[in-house]
Amino acid sequence: MKDILQQLDGRRQIARLGGGQRRIDAQHGRGKLTARERLELLLDEGSFEEYDTFVTHRCVDFDMQKDKPYGDGVVTGWGTINGRQVYVFSQDFTVMGGSVSETHAAKICKIMDMAIQNGAPVIGLNDSGGARIQEGVASLAAYGEVFHRNITASGVVPQISVIMGPCAGGAVYSPAMTDFIFMVKDTSYMFVTGPDVVKTVTNEVVSAEDLGGAVTHTRKSSVADAAFENDVEAMIEVRRLVDFLPLNNREAPPKRPFFDDPARLEPSLDTLVPDNPNAPYDMKELILKVADEGDFYEIQAEFAKNIITGFIRLEGRSVGVVANQPMVLAGCLDIDSSRKAARFVRFCDAFEIPILTFVDVPGFLPGTSQEYGGVIKHGAKLLYAYGEATVPKVTVITRKAYGGAYVVMASKHLRADFNYAWPTAEVAVMGAKGAVEILYRSELGDVEKTAARTKEYEDRFANPFVAAEKGFIDEVIMPHSTRKRVARAFAALRNKKQTVPWKKHDNIPL
Ligand code: HXC
Repeated sequence: MKDILQQLDGRRQIARLGGGQRRIDAQHGRGKLTARERLELLLDEGSFEEYDTFVTHRCVDFDMQKDKPYGDGVVTGWGTINGRQVYVFSQDFTVMGGSVSETHAAKICKIMDMAIQNGAPVIGLNDSGGARIQEGVASLAAYGEVFHRNITASGVVPQISVIMGPCAGGAVYSPAMTDFIFMVKDTSYMFVTGPDVVKTVTNEVVSAEDLGGAVTHTRKSSVADAAFENDVEAMIEVRRLVDFLPLNNREAPPKRPFFDDPARLEPSLDTLVPDNPNAPYDMKELILKVADEGDFYEIQAEFAKNIITGFIRLEGRSVGVVANQPMVLAGCLDIDSSRKAARFVRFCDAFEIPILTFVDVPGFLPGTSQEYGGVIKHGAKLLYAYGEATVPKVTVITRKAYGGAYVVMASKHLRADFNYAWPTAEVAVMGAKGAVEILYRSELGDVEKTAARTKEYEDRFANPFVAAEKGFIDEVIMPHSTRKRVARAFAALRNKKQTVPWKKHDNIPL
């Protein structure tokens, strides 16, 4: 008996060594942790239960039967993050570059099936040279199996991808279908075709970093939601995110203990909006002052900074925040910000996370680049996403809410539940200057008359009361009481049920 136990222990030790000490050292030399070291940081200590430790590939081409490492280049299983279950896979670059064989993919599919069945998030740590070349089409088919499960799991359990090494070819499409993608600076990259192919086909010379590094994907393409300094920070931040999310679409988001009075007043908010209606201010200040303990988990902080998206907690419960940022492009909506916010709103709605919207929006950004880029369709994504969302929706207009953008930003007309406005709010078709230029074009030569018309327009429309008279604004609130009012609103909406007509699925303007 003792022998058998020792044998098992021996096999486990071999499995833990992956591709061997030399390759582990090389992995460390690149500033990367191994697949197992990453899982140790990601999961609660001692919580990891491994599946398929002894799986090996079945390929016999290219003499592959002579090299059959345990685990086949991916460590899979489940564990807990702050006591809550998650399924994980972590690709082991030390085993054939973490490349995806039929059996490697089958291991990933197994834990994805379990995650869908048992209602727990899937977290994938990607570090792979892509399809295992020796297995040819079998590995492509295997990728297809993973892709299909990504689609099945979408909207059922949260899916998080962390890119911690190369991620090339069709391999990027599995992360692309997950809810959040994180990267590690300097050691990870994602592209459909690498720099060599780019050079051959387009004659462009570009480095891997410029083509698909963390900076590129968090600032330019918006493929990735955030980039972290190193593996350790990435694992800590994924843990932080998981704490905001429900385990599945049938479960409410977690309720954490909180040490912040929901009725806390913030007198400084009374002077947040400057006297000059065109002067910027930092909307993040409002978010931080409303959030429990000032804790804000921002998503896509480096992209389309004219809109802010992320998670906070109110009375310990997760809330998704969308907010125009007057510091960037005056808070205008444009293609990028609409896409960014629409995807975030849809995630929140899919997972029953209530949505809080802070509005200061002068309208959609005008111009040919926007129109040629399809701002109509992209702007409609946000409109659509807010309109279809049935989760509790609370909106606070701090200053401008002009034109179509007023309707888009979780207005009453899109079935928001509580629409508040600060006394500084201006709900109108457009700003006074633009309005007077159109309505009184013939009088523009007369400076005095134009000034009088402008004042008249401002007096009538540059306030929240016209909208409040019509019931489009439920209440005009004191800025200092925002946290209290918003927390009470969400508390009142805890049992919200909104039904929609049957449909197979919607047809959001993609
Ligand atoms: C088999 C692979 C492999 C692969 C790497 N290795 N990629 N083995 N299939 N796809 C092996 C190497 O042979 C090597 O083995 C070890 O992994 C480490 O690789 P190195 O090249 O030494 O490492 P590095 O210099 O860091 O370069 C990493 C890399 C490079 C950039 C990932 O290996 C590379 O370009 N690989 C090929 C990438 C690729 O074109 N994949 C196919 C993409 S198409 P030893 O024994 O020396 O340690 C695709 C289609 C998916 O994925 C389609 C889905 C529908």
